[in-house]
Amino acid sequence: MASLFFFFLLSFFSLLPFSLSEPKGVAIDCGAVADSVFEGRRWISDESYVTGGISKNVTVPVTVPILSTVRSFPLANNLHNKFCYTIRAYRGARYMVRSTYFYGGINGRDSPPVFDQILDGTLWTVVNTTTDYANGVSTYYEGVFLAQANVMTFCIGVNTYTDSDPFISSLEFIILGDSLYNSTDFQNYGLHLTTRNSFGYNGPPIRYPDDEFDRIWVPFGENNHTLAAKNVSVSGFWNLPPLKVFQTELTSDPTQPLEFNWPLLSLPEAKYYIALYFADGSNSSENSRVMNISINGVPYYRDLKVTKAGVAVFASRWPLHGATKISLTSSAGSNLGPLVNAGEVLALLPIEGRTVTRDVIALKKLKDSLKNPPPGWNGDPCLPRQYTWIGITCSEGPRFRVLTLNLTGMDLSGTVPSGISGMTALNGIWLGNNRLSGPIPDLSPLKRLDILHLEDNQFIGEIPSSLGLIDNLRELFLQNNNLTGQIPSSLNGKPGLDLRVTGNQLSSPPPT
Ligand SMILES: *[C@@H]1O[C@H](CO)[C@@H](O)[C@H](O)[C@H]1NC(C)=O
Ligand SMILES: *[C@@H]1O[C@H](CO)[C@@H](O)[C@H](O)[C@H]1NC(C)=O
Ligand SMILES: *[C@@H]1O[C@H](CO)[C@@H](O)[C@H](O)[C@H]1NC(C)=O
Ligand SMILES: *[C@@H]1O[C@H](CO)[C@@H](O)[C@H](O)[C@H]1NC(C)=O
Ligand SMILES: *[C@@H]1O[C@H](CO)[C@@H](O)[C@H](O)[C@H]1NC(C)=O
Ligand SMILES: *[C@@H]1O[C@H](CO)[C@@H](O)[C@H](O)[C@H]1NC(C)=O
Ligand SMILES: *[C@@H]1O[C@H](CO)[C@@H](O)[C@H](O)[C@H]1NC(C)=O
Ligand SMILES: *[C@@H]1O[C@H](CO)[C@@H](O)[C@H](O)[C@H]1NC(C)=O
Ligand SMILES: *[C@@H]1O[C@H](CO)[C@@H](O)[C@H](O)[C@H]1NC(C)=O
Repeated sequence: MASLFFFFLLSFFSLLPFSLSEPKGVAIDCGAVADSVFEGRRWISDESYVTGGISKNVTVPVTVPILSTVRSFPLANNLHNKFCYTIRAYRGARYMVRSTYFYGGINGRDSPPVFDQILDGTLWTVVNTTTDYANGVSTYYEGVFLAQANVMTFCIGVNTYTDSDPFISSLEFIILGDSLYNSTDFQNYGLHLTTRNSFGYNGPPIRYPDDEFDRIWVPFGENNHTLAAKNVSVSGFWNLPPLKVFQTELTSDPTQPLEFNWPLLSLPEAKYYIALYFADGSNSSENSRVMNISINGVPYYRDLKVTKAGVAVFASRWPLHGATKISLTSSAGSNLGPLVNAGEVLALLPIEGRTVTRDVIALKKLKDSLKNPPPGWNGDPCLPRQYTWIGITCSEGPRFRVLTLNLTGMDLSGTVPSGISGMTALNGIWLGNNRLSGPIPDLSPLKRLDILHLEDNQFIGEIPSSLGLIDNLRELFLQNNNLTGQIPSSLNGKPGLDLRVTGNQLSSPPPT
């Protein structure tokens, strides 16, 4: 079992007060026209985080005001189109991201559309709210991700199974403390929440303000155990579970193993982060509660001594597939039965990577200077692979670079900024047959460029002599533009260059 890593912590006595301030980050109410406050949290209208899409009111009554509006995105038969929210982030901070969906009949069909959700360059999950919607409830997805830059993007993606306009109800980005889930290699993995439960509890889900990060602890395995007053310090647990989860538990007689299926759903094959939380509620110091824990018959932890102060055990890469059964057995010498208060299971989601920042910046400059940029030019340019922007090709990772730009005949107008020469891995640019205007920028930093097609546009001004500095250049097509002046000597007669300039207002070269 060399691939399984364990972390084990005994917490300290003392009940530290915990912060009641609102979770740090942003809670976005999608489709809302104004900000609002609900259950102590401030919700911001999404208008400044997204471009495109329209606000719609759901057609059925809702009890949670946040669910009453959605932002809906036009399907328009653009497969692999993505619609993105851009959120400012602290680079290096860890964010809990939660997206919530309540269809509410907005598309006039009974059944909600199924689509993808994407975080930065990673295809996070398919959003299928069909069953929840049929049961009249909203659906949420939650994950933990590292901010790899000073913005994070969250996108809705159109896929083959998307048959009507995709939508979203709310989106939260909450900063987690550095110690939370910190055994995870967040450079390479995100965490996707499978389940988070408070055991032996039957009240409403435990969340903010009990949980300072507004994580949601769902009741699981209601029993008749009396609430025990426990002296637990949550500050001693790296994952900072809310105190309230220690008030209830699942337990059994010392002679009986405590066994139950958890999580209840059949799990896709993956590695999982599994955390279990325990605190002993017995009053006598003579009692001892020691147990062995196994998952699907595989030992998970042995001889765990549960103390009044509490203890947490976690595995950071545990393989699971299908049904999961957890067993807690009293060890020899333990006069109290096994017990567990709370647990979390999160799947490890490999991060697909991101396009190199300088290429992202260069493409953003191009997008901003085009009057009608291509559809779906949102979120990460190269990733996820099946959502690469129209008109570009990219290298393989781990450093994803833009290799070609081909926007031939896309009816584009606007100008080409010199900023596109930030994409220094480019080897071909095809912008022919559009309505692009303005001067041809200095592209000499594009040392690898061997093909540049700007024909059939409305470029003006002189042909930049700096193009002669690009050693690799072998095709330079400039015909049918409004170029003036002379062909620069750096290009005229350059060996191996196919230069085409007919259909401009160039003057003849001076006699030599
Ligand atoms: C909790 O533990 C502290 C430190 O051991 C002790 O002073 C306090 O009385 C305990 N509280 C309860 C309710 O047992
Ligand atoms: C949604 O409802 C609000 C108030 O109920 C109304 O002011 C607004 O115009 C509606 N929006 C749309 C898009 O129908
Ligand atoms: C969505 O979920 C429903 C109910 O589980 C299922 O029948 C349907 O096939 C799913 N759709 C897709 C595209 O996965
Ligand atoms: C996680 O955080 C705790 C508390 O800050 C620290 O003691 C521990 O070393 C950290 N573990 C890792 C793997 O970074
Ligand atoms: C819990 O209490 C209810 C009513 O008091 C009783 O019907 C039920 O059998 C009890 N369940 C257990 C597991 O003791
Ligand atoms: C522990 O002590 C508290 C306060 O003295 C009491 O209310 C509770 O019933 C006791 N619990 C047990 C399991 O004996
Ligand atoms: C608990 O685990 C230890 C070490 O594997 C083993 O010796 C012991 O028999 C186990 N106890 C029970 C009750 O299964
Ligand atoms: C560029 O795009 C056009 C239009 O989609 C296509 O016909 C052409 O083959 C592409 N050129 C290259 C070199 O990929
Ligand atoms: C391009 O040149 C043509 C013919 O000289 C002229 O009619 C047109 O206005 C020019 N367009 C631009 C954008 O300069």
